[in-house]
Amino acid sequence: MTIETNLTDLADLTIGNPAVQECPYGYYKLMREQEPVHYDPQTDLWMIADYDLAVEVLKNWKTFSSQIDMRTDVGGPDLTESNALFAKDGYTVPDVLTQVDPPRHTFYRSLIDKAFTGPVVKRMDEYLVDHANELIDAFISKGQCDFKEEFAVPLPLGVIADQVGAPRSDIHRFRVWTDAFVETLGIMLSPERRLECTKLIIEYQHYFVDRINEKKTNPQEDLLSGLVAARHEDGQPLTYEEILAILQQLMTAGNETTRNHLVASMKLLIEEPNLQTILRNDAAMVKKFVDESLRLESPTQGLFRIANHDTELGGYNVPKGAKIYLSYGSANRDDKQFPNAYKLDITRHNATKHLAFGYGIHRCIGQALAKKELEIGISTILQRIENIALKPGHPPITHTPSFILRGIESLHITFDKIR
Ligand code: HEM
Repeated sequence: MTIETNLTDLADLTIGNPAVQECPYGYYKLMREQEPVHYDPQTDLWMIADYDLAVEVLKNWKTFSSQIDMRTDVGGPDLTESNALFAKDGYTVPDVLTQVDPPRHTFYRSLIDKAFTGPVVKRMDEYLVDHANELIDAFISKGQCDFKEEFAVPLPLGVIADQVGAPRSDIHRFRVWTDAFVETLGIMLSPERRLECTKLIIEYQHYFVDRINEKKTNPQEDLLSGLVAARHEDGQPLTYEEILAILQQLMTAGNETTRNHLVASMKLLIEEPNLQTILRNDAAMVKKFVDESLRLESPTQGLFRIANHDTELGGYNVPKGAKIYLSYGSANRDDKQFPNAYKLDITRHNATKHLAFGYGIHRCIGQALAKKELEIGISTILQRIENIALKPGHPPITHTPSFILRGIESLHITFDKIR
């Protein structure tokens, strides 16, 4: 029996349970029905499951602060050794963007907002189509591929490498580094693996300090040069540490999420083959599919806030210091906001209202870029291949254990070539 049908009591469940993480939707439904502001003693998290309440929290950053460290405040692994290694061989980076509140948040955000706005992204159409086609050219003659490794991983990695102004030839290194960033966010990481990841991140730091120095002498039209040229209010340039922290967040936020959603989208297209035909013949429907699938299978299932003072939310008392888990995945399946929310419906009139990119001051900087990558990635694939199916004998599809990022472990497909 699946987790969807088996449960009646919230007290038996926790988001820390790997079975719940594999399919959290039954748990979310129980929370919304029984206790939309639910304290989970096992994780010490206050879970927000309801759409309206999630928006209320996200609007109210003065009460619900972003200044919470996902690693030490939620679960508390010992970071002493890893912090010492950063101090000795690398750089100790400050909190930026997602981890800070205004006014610091406003400053950092202003530095990179422009690089990801709609008009800038609009100009990327041709480039993205070429990038997607190059990846497809490499596997199309085989009639099958490892969709994640051969398409979903390199598409956003190449884009972010180009955005920050690093050579495409280094993209395999970006992969290793971004995976290390994401792994260190996890609280279940073994001490040995945490140290390995720390060493990889230090390698990333030295690589980018070299790139920063290059941009100082030879600035170009790219994001990194922009960060090098940026100044604080007092006229001081950003430190290496600040630039490294910003780049690390962009690479973490921009890769894994987009990669995971390309794979989730492909799974949905395989499960509903008629969608492959509909989207192939109608580009406008691809846009709608992207939003609706982001709603249904949100790559960022949830993130954290911390209550600055005692407060009330939806009739529940939330104490000062409460660690909040905003369940974007649950809010996006709230029937009060999205009728028949568990169904993929590409004609849904309010699909764009999903919270897959968050809401309020921390709303995703890269959303226009992510949507463009997803739209072009999916439509280019559908123009080149048809009759897409799971490879015969494919093992059951499973997700990487996490309650922050939702991603399918691996997806091997077969197809017929169109052109
Ligand atoms: C499907 C892909 C993506 C999803 C689902 C996603 C999701 C999110 C979410 C939910 C937030 C809000 C964080 C919060 O509430 O604290 C966020 C913030 C952010 N995202 Fe994305 N993201 C995606 C792609 C990207 C891309 C491509 C980039 C950049 C290249 C990016 C960069 C960022 C940054 C820098 C923030 C922090 C913004 C801030 O704190 O002001 N994301 N993203």
